[in-house]
Amino acid sequence: MKKLTAGLIAVALLAGANMVYSAELSAEDASEAAGNYMKYCALCHGADRQGHVNDHAPSLRSESLMKTGFPHHIYLTVSYGRLGTPMAGFIDEVGGPMSRDEIIQMLYWIRQESGVTEQVDLYPDPVTGDVELGAGLYARECAECHGKEGEGVTGTALGNPTMLSLTEDQFLRYAIENGRDGTPMKAFGEVLSGKEIDALTAFLRSRATGWAVEKPVYRAPPAVEDYVINPDADAPQFDLKDGLYVMSADLYQALQDKRRMVLLDTRVMSYWQMVNIEGSVPMPYYYEFGEFEQLAGDLPKDGTWIVTYCECPRAAAESVNRKLSALGFENTAVLWEGIQGWVALGYPVARGETTTVEVQALP
Ligand code: HEC
Ligand code: HEC
Repeated sequence: MKKLTAGLIAVALLAGANMVYSAELSAEDASEAAGNYMKYCALCHGADRQGHVNDHAPSLRSESLMKTGFPHHIYLTVSYGRLGTPMAGFIDEVGGPMSRDEIIQMLYWIRQESGVTEQVDLYPDPVTGDVELGAGLYARECAECHGKEGEGVTGTALGNPTMLSLTEDQFLRYAIENGRDGTPMKAFGEVLSGKEIDALTAFLRSRATGWAVEKPVYRAPPAVEDYVINPDADAPQFDLKDGLYVMSADLYQALQDKRRMVLLDTRVMSYWQMVNIEGSVPMPYYYEFGEFEQLAGDLPKDGTWIVTYCECPRAAAESVNRKLSALGFENTAVLWEGIQGWVALGYPVARGETTTVEVQALP
């Protein structure tokens, strides 16, 4: 079941688009995509997608990236960018200039140009490893190019919270083991053991809320009595788009104003663990109606606002919202930008609780 999830996300992502592309783009689509690429991307990634033309932008034609990054990773990176690096988000809902269809068209074009058709199946299970060992290896083998604090030098910013929160462990692990052909990123699988690569991956993941030296511990979802955020406060005054969607800015303001509401994270649980909006309750989209009805029995039915959000940015959240409405819940809303948009707009997120256990400090 777990193994299926990544595939399902990818399928959901593509099914949600208005256009469906076959393996081969039409000449018209390809020329449109090429034009957009030259206009928006060539500046940094190079006219031939070779990378490292400006700002050390990575190669967009390595076999390694194409095998693991298509379509989800590339789609997310191009859409939402990596906050704090030169890689901006391009999708219209975070300011544009590209539509979702244009981005999807482009990512198919990027793959077609690379000539890579094979895909490596990445599954979303976390990579476990010895974080302290990883910290030491990082300082020795990686800091020179990726920066002591993961800030990026000639290599990418491995401590970037947006990158880490939108990237699966297995994607990072694959890059470390196999490198990025045609770039300075060598295949560390040739010089490090599997255990060392696991340790490095676990170390990178442990930096997901920033590079401060803390060891994350996975936490349990909120208890039923903690489902309602600010239980004694007034309701927020949401001005919903199309009667359904709440904007990130408005949700953030309502949370700042300490208004009473429930936040439901409708993604798979591993994503909730990776990163979530503080106070949210995991309520994945995949529960059948009967089971859902039972779980929803724990939610307040007194008109308390229930806001759902997901990753994609809305499909899963809307499906849970529809189930809530069918059960007679009033005052329900869907977060318009999804959590990726929320992150890209710079609003705060939470992940596993951190303890004060220190791993080896970076030299
Ligand atoms: C201003 C320079 C710049 C522009 C313009 C730019 N990028 Fe980037 N891009 C970067 C940098 C720098 C990174 C790496 C950031 C980091 O993680 O440190 C990056 C990362 C990426 C990645 C992630 C690759 C990987 O190895 O994981 C993808 C995919 C990407 N860019 C695609 C695009 C596309 C498509 C466009 C055009 C729509 C574009 N970029 C425009 C600078 C740019
Ligand atoms: C000689 C410089 C250099 C060293 C040393 C190096 N890297 Fe890299 N790394 C790079 C460059 C450059 C890229 C971008 C490659 C590209 O163009 O696709 C990269 C890419 C990556 C990526 C993919 C990131 C993404 O956004 O897709 C990961 C993960 C990574 N490196 C991890 C590591 C780890 C862990 C180490 C240490 C074991 C390491 N690197 C050592 C230069 C280096």
